Amino acid sequence: MSKKISLTRYLVEQQRVDGLIPGQLRLLLEVVARACKRISFEVNKGALGGVLGSAGSENVQGEVQKKLDIIANEVLIEANEWGGHLAAMASEEMEGIYVVPNRYPQGEYLLLFDPLDGSSNIDVNVSIGTIFSVLLKPHDHPGVTTEDFLQPGAKQVAAGYCIYGPQTILALTVGDGVAMFTLDREQGSFVLTDENVRIPEDTKEFSINMSNLRHWDPSIRRYIDECLAGEEGPRGKNFNMRWIASMVADIHRILSRGGVFLYPWDKREPNKPGKLRLLYEANPMGWLIEQAGGAASNGHQRILDVEPTALHQRVSVIMGSKNEVDRVAQYYAEAE
Ligand code: AHG
Ligand code: MN
Ligand code: MN
Ligand code: MN
Repeated sequence: MSKKISLTRYLVEQQRVDGLIPGQLRLLLEVVARACKRISFEVNKGALGGVLGSAGSENVQGEVQKKLDIIANEVLIEANEWGGHLAAMASEEMEGIYVVPNRYPQGEYLLLFDPLDGSSNIDVNVSIGTIFSVLLKPHDHPGVTTEDFLQPGAKQVAAGYCIYGPQTILALTVGDGVAMFTLDREQGSFVLTDENVRIPEDTKEFSINMSNLRHWDPSIRRYIDECLAGEEGPRGKNFNMRWIASMVADIHRILSRGGVFLYPWDKREPNKPGKLRLLYEANPMGWLIEQAGGAASNGHQRILDVEPTALHQRVSVIMGSKNEVDRVAQYYAEAE
């Protein structure tokens, strides 16, 4: 039987081999993984744990919060605040940053997260997840401010997600490719199950919410119409479509077998560049996709190069198989 490599052993070996994971970052990643394990157990209780349904409150995004949005947020804060590896946290579910209280030692990392992604799927037993991103706190001043979080995605030192589906799987990058770990529920530990995730440059599978078709930018409409035209059309091949409405599940599929995920700007909210949030959805997912050989664009530039100006700012998202992402960007360029 092949030896089981735990997340801890993987992180220690990565730290020893290429120093990509300083001790404090390894501790942070292990704490986040433990928090995700706890969230997975809460998710799996479902109706038996009283975790389903709405919490009756609204978050800064203007979304009605689900009980699990709040539970997952609290699990991540409680797990991380006392460890001494973090200076502050930011979350989809909190308007401002959460600075580690003075009674605890402050670390040099910033943790950003979408504690529960795919909230509309919680009550219908469809895969959901947690997305996280790690930045270094700037050293040029004491304390920590919101501005410290406003770094482009290219500055991330770690990024990942945990998907709560038939298996609970943690995907992680620290800049040396993408590894995946499956939760061994008997041992209660994450075990390395894929060490070199690669996305094929071509695909026949696109992922978009088709109900927004009438609101799309013409370049998106052109791209999807060509996919729908099948092998008689200009693409000369038949495409398939998947839309799970949990970004974690759609991106996990793309990391597993290729595809292109699109949540582009549309005219429903013309003043917003898109629905998905840059700092804790598009940046971490974009880095994972790039580290697996894919591309991540907002249609006009690399997502990881976007200079953030606000904690909860949104961004247009096209990411996955490189040749498809490049084609969409080309259509936008031709329309300018
Ligand atoms: P969240 O549940 O964290 O608010 O994110 C939901 C996002 C993303 O997970 C998914 O791809 C998208 O919303 C689905 O949007 P639609 O419901 O408009 O399809
Ligand atoms: Mn939400
Ligand atoms: Mn989300
Ligand atoms: Mn969320």
